[in-house]
Amino acid sequence: MKLQTIKEREIKLSIPVEEKLTKRMDVFYNPEMKFDRDLSEVIVKILKPKKICDLFCASGVRGLRYASILEDSEVVLNDKNPRVVEFARKNAELNKLKVRIENKDANKLVLEERFDFIDIDPFGSPIYFLDSAAKSIRIGGTVAITATDTAPLCGTSPLTSLRRYGIKSLRTDFSKEIGLRILISAAIRNFAKYDLAFKPIFSYYQRHYFRIFGKIERGAGRADKLLKQFSYFSYCQKCGWRKEGISEKCEFCGRKTNLIQEIYLGNFASKEFCNQILKEIGGSTEIDKILPPKVKETGTHISSLIRRVRDEQNFPLYFDIHKLCKLNKKQPKKMVILLEKLEGKRTHFSETGIKTKKNLEDILESLS
Ligand SMILES: C[S@@+](CC[C@H](N)C(=O)[O-])C[C@H]1O[C@@H](n2cnc3c(N)ncnc32)[C@H](O)[C@@H]1O
Ligand SMILES: [Zn+2]
Repeated sequence: MKLQTIKEREIKLSIPVEEKLTKRMDVFYNPEMKFDRDLSEVIVKILKPKKICDLFCASGVRGLRYASILEDSEVVLNDKNPRVVEFARKNAELNKLKVRIENKDANKLVLEERFDFIDIDPFGSPIYFLDSAAKSIRIGGTVAITATDTAPLCGTSPLTSLRRYGIKSLRTDFSKEIGLRILISAAIRNFAKYDLAFKPIFSYYQRHYFRIFGKIERGAGRADKLLKQFSYFSYCQKCGWRKEGISEKCEFCGRKTNLIQEIYLGNFASKEFCNQILKEIGGSTEIDKILPPKVKETGTHISSLIRRVRDEQNFPLYFDIHKLCKLNKKQPKKMVILLEKLEGKRTHFSETGIKTKKNLEDILESLS
Protein backbone atom coordinates (compact mmCIF):
# COMPACT_ATOMS: atom_id res chain seq x y z
CA MET A 1 0.00 0.00 0.00
CA LYS A 2 1.44 3.38 -1.04
CA LEU A 3 1.23 6.04 1.65
CA GLN A 4 1.22 9.83 1.48
CA THR A 5 1.51 12.49 4.17
CA ILE A 6 -0.83 15.44 3.84
CA LYS A 7 -1.63 18.39 6.06
CA GLU A 8 -5.03 19.74 7.01
CA ARG A 9 -4.63 23.01 8.89
CA GLU A 10 -2.18 22.10 11.68
CA ILE A 11 -2.71 18.33 11.52
CA LYS A 12 -0.38 15.99 9.63
CA LEU A 13 -2.00 12.85 8.25
CA SER A 14 -0.55 9.67 6.88
CA ILE A 15 -3.10 8.08 4.55
CA PRO A 16 -3.02 5.60 1.65
CA VAL A 17 -2.81 7.00 -1.86
CA GLU A 18 -6.26 6.47 -3.36
CA GLU A 19 -7.41 6.97 -6.91
CA LYS A 20 -10.85 8.22 -6.05
CA LEU A 21 -13.18 8.70 -3.11
CA THR A 22 -15.25 5.58 -2.37
CA LYS A 23 -16.77 3.93 0.69
CA ARG A 24 -14.37 1.03 0.12
CA MET A 25 -11.27 3.20 0.51
CA ASP A 26 -8.72 1.87 2.97
CA VAL A 27 -8.98 5.05 4.99
CA PHE A 28 -11.74 7.41 4.10
CA TYR A 29 -10.43 10.98 3.85
CA ASN A 30 -12.60 13.52 2.06
CA PRO A 31 -10.86 16.84 1.39
CA GLU A 32 -14.24 18.39 0.56
CA MET A 33 -15.30 17.99 4.19
CA LYS A 34 -12.45 20.27 5.31
CA PHE A 35 -14.96 23.10 5.24
CA ASP A 36 -17.15 21.29 7.74
CA ARG A 37 -14.18 20.32 9.90
CA ASP A 38 -13.07 23.98 9.99
CA LEU A 39 -16.52 25.04 11.10
CA SER A 40 -16.90 22.18 13.58
CA GLU A 41 -13.52 23.04 15.11
CA VAL A 42 -14.68 26.62 15.74
CA ILE A 43 -17.91 25.34 17.29
CA VAL A 44 -16.04 22.89 19.54
CA LYS A 45 -13.69 25.72 20.58
CA ILE A 46 -16.68 27.79 21.70
CA LEU A 47 -18.43 24.93 23.50
CA LYS A 48 -15.30 23.59 25.23
CA PRO A 49 -16.71 20.10 25.91
CA LYS A 50 -14.79 18.11 28.56
CA LYS A 51 -15.20 14.73 26.90
CA ILE A 52 -15.47 14.40 23.13
CA CYS A 53 -16.25 11.39 20.97
CA ASP A 54 -15.33 11.33 17.27
CA LEU A 55 -17.51 8.30 16.73
CA PHE A 56 -16.61 7.60 13.08
CA CYS A 57 -13.02 8.78 13.01
CA ALA A 58 -11.56 7.21 9.80
CA SER A 59 -8.11 8.90 9.43
CA GLY A 60 -8.69 10.61 12.78
CA VAL A 61 -8.50 14.09 11.28
CA ARG A 62 -11.66 15.44 12.94
CA GLY A 63 -10.96 14.24 16.49
CA LEU A 64 -7.28 15.19 16.22
CA ARG A 65 -8.26 18.72 15.25
CA TYR A 66 -10.53 18.90 18.32
CA ALA A 67 -7.75 17.49 20.55
CA SER A 68 -5.26 20.04 19.22
CA ILE A 69 -7.38 23.01 20.33
CA LEU A 70 -8.68 21.66 23.65
CA GLU A 71 -5.68 20.39 25.59
CA ASP A 72 -7.63 19.75 28.80
CA SER A 73 -10.40 17.72 27.17
CA GLU A 74 -10.52 13.96 26.86
CA VAL A 75 -10.89 12.97 23.21
CA VAL A 76 -11.95 9.49 22.06
CA LEU A 77 -11.52 8.44 18.42
CA ASN A 78 -13.51 5.44 17.29
CA ASP A 79 -14.01 3.45 14.11
CA LYS A 80 -15.28 -0.08 13.67
CA ASN A 81 -12.76 -0.89 10.95
CA PRO A 82 -9.56 -2.27 12.61
CA ARG A 83 -7.32 -1.26 9.66
CA VAL A 84 -8.62 2.28 9.78
CA VAL A 85 -8.07 2.56 13.52
CA GLU A 86 -4.34 1.81 13.07
CA PHE A 87 -4.09 4.88 10.83
CA ALA A 88 -5.89 7.00 13.41
CA ARG A 89 -3.43 5.73 16.06
CA LYS A 90 -0.38 6.53 13.88
CA ASN A 91 -1.78 9.95 13.03
CA ALA A 92 -2.27 10.75 16.72
CA GLU A 93 1.41 9.81 17.32
CA LEU A 94 2.51 11.82 14.29
CA ASN A 95 0.93 14.92 15.83
CA LYS A 96 1.97 14.07 19.41
CA LEU A 97 -1.65 14.29 20.53
CA LYS A 98 -2.96 12.33 23.48
CA VAL A 99 -6.26 10.71 22.50
CA ARG A 100 -7.88 7.39 23.27
CA ILE A 101 -8.44 5.11 20.29
CA GLU A 102 -11.35 2.64 20.26
CA ASN A 103 -12.27 0.01 17.71
CA LYS A 104 -15.95 -0.66 18.37
CA ASP A 105 -19.29 -0.47 16.70
CA ALA A 106 -20.53 3.10 17.22
CA ASN A 107 -23.72 2.07 19.04
CA LYS A 108 -21.79 -0.18 21.41
CA LEU A 109 -19.21 2.46 22.35
CA VAL A 110 -21.63 5.26 23.17
CA LEU A 111 -23.74 2.96 25.31
CA GLU A 112 -20.70 2.22 27.49
CA GLU A 113 -19.69 5.81 28.31
CA ARG A 114 -21.04 9.33 28.61
CA PHE A 115 -19.80 12.28 26.58
CA ASP A 116 -20.24 16.06 26.37
CA PHE A 117 -19.84 16.18 22.60
CA ILE A 118 -20.65 13.36 20.19
CA ASP A 119 -19.76 13.76 16.54
CA ILE A 120 -21.85 11.51 14.30
CA ASP A 121 -20.32 11.52 10.83
CA PRO A 122 -21.06 8.14 9.21
CA PHE A 123 -21.60 7.26 5.55
CA GLY A 124 -25.18 8.06 4.54
CA SER A 125 -27.86 8.29 7.19
CA PRO A 126 -27.06 9.01 10.86
CA ILE A 127 -30.49 7.84 12.04
CA TYR A 128 -29.26 4.42 13.27
CA PHE A 129 -27.05 6.06 15.91
CA LEU A 130 -29.38 8.63 17.44
CA ASP A 131 -30.96 6.37 20.09
CA SER A 132 -27.63 5.45 21.63
CA ALA A 133 -26.43 9.06 21.39
CA ALA A 134 -29.48 10.11 23.42
CA LYS A 135 -28.50 7.65 26.13
CA SER A 136 -24.86 8.70 26.17
CA ILE A 137 -24.88 12.49 25.89
CA ARG A 138 -24.56 14.46 29.12
CA ILE A 139 -27.12 17.14 29.90
CA GLY A 140 -25.84 20.42 28.50
CA GLY A 141 -23.75 18.53 25.94
CA THR A 142 -23.96 18.82 22.16
CA VAL A 143 -24.62 16.26 19.45
CA ALA A 144 -23.32 17.04 15.96
CA ILE A 145 -24.94 15.07 13.13
CA THR A 146 -24.03 14.76 9.44
CA ALA A 147 -26.39 13.26 6.86
CA THR A 148 -25.15 12.61 3.33
CA ASP A 149 -28.37 10.97 2.12
CA THR A 150 -29.54 14.30 0.72
CA ALA A 151 -31.47 12.83 -2.23
CA PRO A 152 -34.20 11.05 -0.21
CA LEU A 153 -34.37 13.97 2.22
CA CYS A 154 -34.84 16.50 -0.59
CA GLY A 155 -37.71 14.71 -2.34
CA THR A 156 -36.28 12.18 -4.81
CA SER A 157 -37.31 9.22 -2.67
CA PRO A 158 -40.20 10.17 -0.36
CA LEU A 159 -40.66 6.65 1.00
CA THR A 160 -36.99 6.25 1.94
CA SER A 161 -37.33 9.52 3.81
CA LEU A 162 -40.50 8.24 5.52
CA ARG A 163 -38.82 4.96 6.49
CA ARG A 164 -35.68 6.59 7.87
CA TYR A 165 -36.91 9.89 9.24
CA GLY A 166 -40.67 9.49 9.72
CA ILE A 167 -41.64 12.20 7.21
CA LYS A 168 -42.28 11.79 3.48
CA SER A 169 -40.12 14.26 1.57
CA LEU A 170 -41.58 16.23 -1.33
CA ARG A 171 -40.20 17.98 -4.42
CA THR A 172 -40.70 21.69 -3.79
CA ASP A 173 -38.89 24.87 -4.79
CA PHE A 174 -37.38 24.86 -1.28
CA SER A 175 -36.38 21.18 -1.15
CA LYS A 176 -33.00 21.82 0.55
CA GLU A 177 -34.79 23.41 3.48
CA ILE A 178 -37.31 20.56 3.66
CA GLY A 179 -34.40 18.10 3.73
CA LEU A 180 -32.68 19.91 6.59
CA ARG A 181 -35.94 20.24 8.51
CA ILE A 182 -36.82 16.55 8.08
CA LEU A 183 -33.44 15.66 9.61
CA ILE A 184 -33.91 18.12 12.51
CA SER A 185 -37.48 16.85 13.06
CA ALA A 186 -36.20 13.27 13.34
CA ALA A 187 -33.49 14.33 15.81
CA ILE A 188 -35.94 16.33 17.96
CA ARG A 189 -38.41 13.41 18.06
CA ASN A 190 -35.66 10.92 18.83
CA PHE A 191 -34.37 12.85 21.87
CA ALA A 192 -37.92 13.73 22.98
CA LYS A 193 -38.59 9.99 23.55
CA TYR A 194 -36.13 10.24 26.45
CA ASP A 195 -37.55 13.57 27.73
CA LEU A 196 -34.60 15.41 26.24
CA ALA A 197 -34.68 18.53 24.10
CA PHE A 198 -32.43 18.63 21.01
CA LYS A 199 -32.19 22.41 20.58
CA PRO A 200 -30.70 23.30 17.18
CA ILE A 201 -27.93 25.85 17.78
CA PHE A 202 -26.53 25.68 14.27
CA SER A 203 -27.55 23.76 11.14
CA TYR A 204 -26.67 24.08 7.50
CA TYR A 205 -26.73 22.54 4.04
CA GLN A 206 -23.84 22.10 1.63
CA ARG A 207 -23.90 20.53 -1.81
CA HIS A 208 -23.74 16.91 -0.64
CA TYR A 209 -24.61 16.92 3.05
CA PHE A 210 -26.62 18.36 5.92
CA ARG A 211 -25.06 19.06 9.30
CA ILE A 212 -26.93 19.90 12.51
CA PHE A 213 -25.69 20.76 16.02
CA GLY A 214 -28.14 20.28 18.90
CA LYS A 215 -27.65 21.32 22.50
CA ILE A 216 -29.21 18.75 24.82
CA GLU A 217 -31.45 19.92 27.64
CA ARG A 218 -33.35 17.82 30.15
CA GLY A 219 -37.13 17.82 30.60
CA ALA A 220 -40.36 16.84 28.87
CA GLY A 221 -41.44 20.50 28.97
CA ARG A 222 -38.37 21.62 27.02
CA ALA A 223 -38.87 18.80 24.50
CA ASP A 224 -42.56 19.77 24.13
CA LYS A 225 -41.58 23.39 23.44
CA LEU A 226 -39.77 22.13 20.34
CA LEU A 227 -42.59 19.75 19.38
CA LYS A 228 -45.06 22.66 19.49
CA GLN A 229 -43.11 24.16 16.61
CA PHE A 230 -44.06 21.22 14.35
CA SER A 231 -46.81 21.73 11.80
CA TYR A 232 -48.35 20.27 8.66
CA PHE A 233 -47.42 22.09 5.49
CA SER A 234 -49.41 22.37 2.24
CA TYR A 235 -47.73 22.91 -1.12
CA CYS A 236 -48.92 23.27 -4.70
CA GLN A 237 -46.44 21.72 -7.14
CA LYS A 238 -48.11 23.51 -10.08
CA CYS A 239 -47.54 27.13 -9.00
CA GLY A 240 -45.40 27.02 -5.85
CA TRP A 241 -48.11 28.26 -3.45
CA ARG A 242 -47.60 27.10 0.12
CA LYS A 243 -49.21 27.45 3.51
CA GLU A 244 -48.50 26.25 7.02
CA GLY A 245 -51.26 23.82 8.08
CA ILE A 246 -53.65 21.64 6.11
CA SER A 247 -55.13 23.18 2.95
CA GLU A 248 -56.42 20.70 0.39
CA LYS A 249 -56.86 23.24 -2.38
CA CYS A 250 -54.28 25.74 -3.64
CA GLU A 251 -55.55 29.23 -2.85
CA PHE A 252 -53.67 30.64 -5.82
CA CYS A 253 -54.43 28.33 -8.78
CA GLY A 254 -57.17 26.14 -7.29
CA ARG A 255 -55.44 22.80 -7.87
CA LYS A 256 -55.04 19.99 -5.32
CA THR A 257 -52.11 20.50 -2.98
CA ASN A 258 -49.57 18.05 -1.58
CA LEU A 259 -49.28 17.69 2.16
CA ILE A 260 -46.07 17.43 4.16
CA GLN A 261 -46.56 15.66 7.49
CA GLU A 262 -45.79 17.47 10.73
CA ILE A 263 -42.32 18.98 10.40
CA TYR A 264 -40.22 21.31 12.59
CA LEU A 265 -40.75 24.91 11.45
CA GLY A 266 -38.86 26.70 14.24
CA ASN A 267 -35.40 28.25 13.99
CA PHE A 268 -32.63 25.92 12.86
CA ALA A 269 -29.88 28.09 14.34
CA SER A 270 -29.53 30.42 17.30
CA LYS A 271 -28.69 34.01 16.34
CA GLU A 272 -26.58 34.44 19.46
CA PHE A 273 -24.61 31.31 18.70
CA CYS A 274 -24.03 32.49 15.09
CA ASN A 275 -22.64 35.76 16.48
CA GLN A 276 -20.37 33.81 18.79
CA ILE A 277 -19.02 31.84 15.81
CA LEU A 278 -18.46 35.06 13.85
CA LYS A 279 -16.64 36.57 16.81
CA GLU A 280 -14.47 33.47 17.16
CA ILE A 281 -13.41 33.56 13.50
CA GLY A 282 -12.88 37.30 13.66
CA GLY A 283 -15.59 38.11 11.14
CA SER A 284 -17.71 41.21 11.41
CA THR A 285 -21.10 40.66 12.98
CA GLU A 286 -22.68 43.44 10.93
CA ILE A 287 -25.41 42.30 8.63
CA ASP A 288 -24.07 42.10 5.10
CA LYS A 289 -26.53 43.50 2.59
CA ILE A 290 -25.37 41.45 -0.34
CA LEU A 291 -23.02 38.60 0.24
CA PRO A 292 -20.31 37.52 -2.13
CA PRO A 293 -20.91 34.27 -4.00
CA LYS A 294 -19.23 31.11 -2.78
CA VAL A 295 -15.60 31.87 -2.02
CA LYS A 296 -13.03 29.06 -2.13
CA GLU A 297 -11.00 30.10 0.93
CA THR A 298 -12.99 28.56 3.75
CA GLY A 299 -12.35 31.36 6.27
CA THR A 300 -14.29 33.85 4.16
CA HIS A 301 -16.85 31.33 3.07
CA ILE A 302 -17.59 30.30 6.64
CA SER A 303 -18.39 33.84 7.74
CA SER A 304 -20.73 34.43 4.80
CA LEU A 305 -22.45 31.10 5.45
CA ILE A 306 -22.88 31.97 9.15
CA ARG A 307 -24.29 35.42 8.35
CA ARG A 308 -26.80 33.99 5.90
CA VAL A 309 -27.89 31.27 8.32
CA ARG A 310 -28.20 33.84 11.12
CA ASP A 311 -30.20 36.32 9.07
CA GLU A 312 -32.62 33.82 7.57
CA GLN A 313 -34.02 32.70 10.94
CA ASN A 314 -37.57 33.84 11.83
CA PHE A 315 -38.59 33.69 8.17
CA PRO A 316 -40.84 31.13 6.47
CA LEU A 317 -39.26 28.58 4.11
CA TYR A 318 -37.35 30.15 1.21
CA PHE A 319 -38.74 30.78 -2.28
CA ASP A 320 -36.60 29.77 -5.24
CA ILE A 321 -37.10 32.62 -7.68
CA HIS A 322 -35.90 30.69 -10.74
CA LYS A 323 -38.17 27.74 -10.04
CA LEU A 324 -41.17 30.00 -9.39
CA CYS A 325 -40.46 31.84 -12.66
CA LYS A 326 -40.41 28.53 -14.53
CA LEU A 327 -43.69 27.35 -12.96
CA ASN A 328 -45.47 30.66 -13.53
CA LYS A 329 -43.83 31.73 -16.82
CA LYS A 330 -42.12 34.85 -15.49
CA GLN A 331 -38.70 36.38 -16.09
CA PRO A 332 -36.30 36.44 -13.11
CA LYS A 333 -35.15 39.85 -11.90
CA LYS A 334 -31.90 40.88 -10.23
CA MET A 335 -31.62 39.62 -6.66
CA VAL A 336 -30.81 43.07 -5.24
CA ILE A 337 -34.04 44.47 -6.66
CA LEU A 338 -36.14 41.55 -5.42
CA LEU A 339 -34.57 41.62 -1.96
CA GLU A 340 -35.54 45.27 -1.61
CA LYS A 341 -39.04 44.90 -3.04
CA LEU A 342 -39.83 41.85 -0.94
CA GLU A 343 -38.07 43.05 2.20
CA GLY A 344 -36.22 39.79 2.02
CA LYS A 345 -32.95 38.18 2.94
CA ARG A 346 -30.71 35.82 1.06
CA THR A 347 -30.66 32.18 2.12
CA HIS A 348 -27.65 29.89 2.46
CA PHE A 349 -29.68 27.12 0.76
CA SER A 350 -29.64 28.59 -2.74
CA GLU A 351 -28.12 31.45 -4.74
CA THR A 352 -31.51 31.97 -6.39
CA GLY A 353 -33.50 31.69 -3.15
CA ILE A 354 -35.12 34.44 -1.09
CA LYS A 355 -36.46 34.53 2.44
CA THR A 356 -39.44 36.83 2.74
CA LYS A 357 -42.63 37.22 4.73
CA LYS A 358 -44.54 38.17 1.54
CA ASN A 359 -46.78 35.63 -0.18
CA LEU A 360 -46.57 34.02 -3.64
CA GLU A 361 -48.87 36.64 -5.18
CA ASP A 362 -46.61 39.50 -4.00
CA ILE A 363 -43.55 37.66 -5.26
CA LEU A 364 -45.03 37.08 -8.71
CA GLU A 365 -46.10 40.71 -8.84
CA SER A 366 -42.57 41.85 -8.05
CA LEU A 367 -41.45 39.83 -11.09
CA SER A 368 -43.81 41.61 -13.49
C1 LIG B 1 -17.57 9.22 6.48
S1 LIG B 1 -16.30 8.30 7.27
C2 LIG B 1 -15.82 9.35 8.60
C3 LIG B 1 -15.06 10.56 8.19
C4 LIG B 1 -14.41 11.35 9.30
N1 LIG B 1 -15.36 11.68 10.36
C5 LIG B 1 -13.73 12.61 8.74
O1 LIG B 1 -14.16 13.75 9.05
O2 LIG B 1 -12.77 12.45 7.96
C6 LIG B 1 -17.18 7.02 8.05
C7 LIG B 1 -16.34 6.04 8.90
O3 LIG B 1 -17.27 5.35 9.73
C8 LIG B 1 -16.83 4.00 9.93
N2 LIG B 1 -18.03 3.23 10.31
C9 LIG B 1 -19.08 2.84 9.53
N3 LIG B 1 -20.03 2.23 10.28
C10 LIG B 1 -19.59 2.25 11.56
C11 LIG B 1 -20.14 1.79 12.80
N4 LIG B 1 -21.31 1.16 12.84
N5 LIG B 1 -19.43 2.01 13.93
C12 LIG B 1 -18.22 2.64 13.90
N6 LIG B 1 -17.64 3.06 12.75
C13 LIG B 1 -18.32 2.88 11.60
C14 LIG B 1 -16.21 3.62 8.61
O4 LIG B 1 -15.23 2.60 8.80
C15 LIG B 1 -15.58 4.97 8.15
O5 LIG B 1 -14.22 5.05 8.49
ZN1 LIG C 1 -51.29 26.33 -7.20
